[in-house]
Amino acid sequence: MTIRPTTGDSSWFVKDRFGLFIHWGLYSLPARHEWVKSAEKMDDTKYDLYFKNFEPDLYDPNVWAQAAANAGMKYFVITTKHHDGFCLWDSKLTDYKSTVAPNCRRDLLRPMIEAFRKRDMRVGLYHSLIDWHHPEYFIDNRNHPQRDKIASPGEADGMLDQGGGSAARKAQAVADANAGRDQGKYANYLHGQVRELLTELGLIDVLWFDFSFPAAQNADRLNFALGKGREAWKSEELLKLIRQLQPNVLLDNRLDLPGVESSWDFATPEQAQPRKWVEINGTRVVWEACQTLSGSWGYHRDESSWRSTEELIGTLVDCVSKGGNLLLNVGPTGRGEFDARALNCLNGIGEWMKRHGRSIYGCTEAPAEFTCPRDCRLTYNPETKRLYVHLLAYPYKHLHLDGAFAERVEYAQFLNDASQIKLGMDNWHANQIGSGERTLTLNLPQRKPDVTIPVVELYLK
Ligand code: GLC
Repeated sequence: MTIRPTTGDSSWFVKDRFGLFIHWGLYSLPARHEWVKSAEKMDDTKYDLYFKNFEPDLYDPNVWAQAAANAGMKYFVITTKHHDGFCLWDSKLTDYKSTVAPNCRRDLLRPMIEAFRKRDMRVGLYHSLIDWHHPEYFIDNRNHPQRDKIASPGEADGMLDQGGGSAARKAQAVADANAGRDQGKYANYLHGQVRELLTELGLIDVLWFDFSFPAAQNADRLNFALGKGREAWKSEELLKLIRQLQPNVLLDNRLDLPGVESSWDFATPEQAQPRKWVEINGTRVVWEACQTLSGSWGYHRDESSWRSTEELIGTLVDCVSKGGNLLLNVGPTGRGEFDARALNCLNGIGEWMKRHGRSIYGCTEAPAEFTCPRDCRLTYNPETKRLYVHLLAYPYKHLHLDGAFAERVEYAQFLNDASQIKLGMDNWHANQIGSGERTLTLNLPQRKPDVTIPVVELYLK
């Protein structure tokens, strides 16, 4: 099946499969979600406390990069700027940055990029289109912390264009709240920062913009109080700039340019797993799911819904079995560390990856002739022609494989210890439980191998 070609270079991306997302910024201090400024409708004065007190004294990017490498990750994507507008590098276009924050006073981005590159990892930059700090950025009623200025109290968030109050009063409120703001100037700032990022840091492998939220009605697209899409970011111009500065960079799909040629390279499902290989307009695309360890992207002290190592490994396997990547997120603390819970997850994944990377790197969806057995995920390496059966639930004695396996499989082993798995069912059991004609039965040991998710490696004829 054909896959939509990319303009940027995706050849490494579809092999490396596993990356680290890092959400780090001022919101690590409140430690209750990176959207805290919007969720609690904080004004700049209130949020400034975090700028003043941001002091990442334990930050050592070598420790981060090593943790990612040990987990088997091959690339990373860092929030250069999140929605709160705070920049982790020494941008010449703003003072709202780590080099000016009084208790930080250093560029956090450059040494990070260096540390990851030193470990042969590719570099991705997340950059927020949204900016809740920039003075030219138009206040909208969708997610801006100051949205109450335009949606009068008592009106539900995001309901500016419906019910309650006269249209004229609302238009006046929007004009008042945004007096002196010019979204066009903000877009120029955005482009200027992207130019910095793409010219001052060497070759960038991934550019990850976040996100567009155009107005519900087409007629309202230019009313930036009701939403922001390609007009608010001047996305088409931005796209040209990116393709010209770094022709190989892989671009995500959040610039709101549907239908525009080469306007994106990969799709980005987040916080949910696709049911099959992601298709857009009926064509398979390069895709990467981004997922969290708990419910938040930024460091969250009190979150208790952390995923188990097994679930996380299962998610990676699930992505690859559908032809996609996994970008797994860590939110470092305000002092600059991955906390024990995050390290624990990464260590568990790394233990597994050490012995099972072969079923992930260079792998993709298995050819359709191999039917995936219940409670399993298949991946396939088209170069080595090996198939991998991931046992999400451990079967009772036998693993029955229907489809092309019976004709094609020559040898089977567990991947963790290269111990042989015998093929075929003995007569005694065949008489008792029956055997399908085109079924290949594998004889598994009674005890599940001592690994989080056992993998059977099948050598094809
Ligand atoms: C969302 C959120 C954001 C997070 C991103 C990661 O769009 O706005 O906080 O950075 O997802 O995909």
